[in-house]
Amino acid sequence: MAKMVLTWFVATLLFLCEAQGFRKVVRVGNNWELTDPKPEFKEKYFSQIVDHFNYNSMGNGTYLQRYLITDQYWKKGYGPIYFYTGNEGDIWAFALNSGFITELAAKERALVIFAEHRYYGKSLPFGKDSFHIPEVGLLTVEQALADYAVMITELKKDLNAQACPVIVFGGSYGGMLSVYMRLRYPNIVAGALAASAPILSTAGMGDPAQFFRDVTADFENCDPACRDAVKGAFEKLQTLAQQEDYARIQSEFSLCKTPSSAADIHQLNGLLRNAFTLMAMLDYPYSTAFMSSMPPFPVKVACETMLKGDGLMAALKDTVGIVYNSTGKLTCLDIYNLYIECADPTGCGLGFDSLAWDYQACTEIEMCFESNGASDMFPPLPFTQQQREQYCAKRWAVVPRPGWLKTQFWGDALSTASNIIFSNGDLDPWANGGVRQSLSSSLIAIRIPEGAHHLDLRGSNVADPDSVIQARKKESEIISQWVKIERGKHQGREL
Ligand SMILES: *[C@@H]1O[C@H](CO)[C@@H](O)[C@H](O)[C@H]1NC(C)=O
Ligand SMILES: *[C@@H]1O[C@H](CO)[C@@H](O)[C@H](O)[C@H]1NC(C)=O
Repeated sequence: MAKMVLTWFVATLLFLCEAQGFRKVVRVGNNWELTDPKPEFKEKYFSQIVDHFNYNSMGNGTYLQRYLITDQYWKKGYGPIYFYTGNEGDIWAFALNSGFITELAAKERALVIFAEHRYYGKSLPFGKDSFHIPEVGLLTVEQALADYAVMITELKKDLNAQACPVIVFGGSYGGMLSVYMRLRYPNIVAGALAASAPILSTAGMGDPAQFFRDVTADFENCDPACRDAVKGAFEKLQTLAQQEDYARIQSEFSLCKTPSSAADIHQLNGLLRNAFTLMAMLDYPYSTAFMSSMPPFPVKVACETMLKGDGLMAALKDTVGIVYNSTGKLTCLDIYNLYIECADPTGCGLGFDSLAWDYQACTEIEMCFESNGASDMFPPLPFTQQQREQYCAKRWAVVPRPGWLKTQFWGDALSTASNIIFSNGDLDPWANGGVRQSLSSSLIAIRIPEGAHHLDLRGSNVADPDSVIQARKKESEIISQWVKIERGKHQGREL
């Protein structure tokens, strides 16, 4: 009987919701839950200006910039526009891992756009020549922001959305771009949610040892013995390297090739450290396939792996296998294929996107982060401005300009800005490179104690800790307030 009533109730609810067009009742395990329809993005291309800042060099030349759009939740001509300022990768990866934006769009009846950053994914201004010198030179933060400003302006016209307030969203470097959009184009953007945006550390501000110290802290907080075991394993490797016992190193780490030089050992150390970086950043409470394939709570899994088995180096090999051998199909570790050293000591990823990010790390984005074996559990791997300069001159024929990003985008002197949320999770090694304290009533820092790298941008999940649920709630409230105020201004202008 109760079951029949429930069925009738759910059916009625389903009908009503379907009629409303944007919420659904679905079965999740044994429970019925209200959820939003899966976002159905259309992939489109926008004819974009190649060079916004020089009318001669490229003339009116254009390239095709990819974007994803869905109006399935949108109250046409009225609902706000949620615009994701794409970062260093294929735009689909961000769209598929930022469910919070579409969940909020369903609630607020917003139009959702995910724009791809120039030189990433399929948005290559010069096709396969994009990473040649000098073609790569139009890859700058300023050009990317101008792309977004032009795209928003044009799409608003095309979609009859002039009255619709625009909120920008971004995670990590994408969050930095959201901040910069609000600083640079407050005429176009009413507010920004910058999730895990390390705007300070990437502008050369702060302690170069902070990043790897905070990676270490995640493993230490899980279990101090875990940190000691990782440190011990790296020390054992160092001893073997000093003895030039390369055959033993190869067998301990199942390397495809026998290392034969200090450079190979350096590469191996970089690859090993990178696995810990990724597990710390992506320490989500459920399994994910973003940037890398991760089990739930990878830091905890890593520490369990690190503290069992025979031998520290064997344990270290198995632990980095969580990242590099998630399929269980790897027969040996190819150190130069699985990890590419670049101007970002936290990793550039693989493929063409890694070239673009390397170039950005050689120009405007400053990441001279070091591990030192004292304030962290890793071998000393310094990366000074001098090393950066040498690398970048050789690789890209450019000389980095320390301090430029800080000059351009204000560093920590943000008090005259407004309507920006800086959210950060305590598990994220990037967090302390960002804004952690509110700077005014409209420059709001949100802290998520149990959050890793922009967990708040991800869609809701039954495993979410309360702190991220609260953070998302607060973010929604602030954003809807911004939209209301902006709408008021627009109506004021029309009168
Ligand atoms: C660019 O400008 C030239 C000269 O005015 C014109 O002939 C050409 O059609 C323009 N190209 C585009 C793509 O607008
Ligand atoms: C990858 O995982 C499988 C399954 O656990 C294991 O048999 C194999 O030895 C691992 N490969 C490496 C290189 O560690």
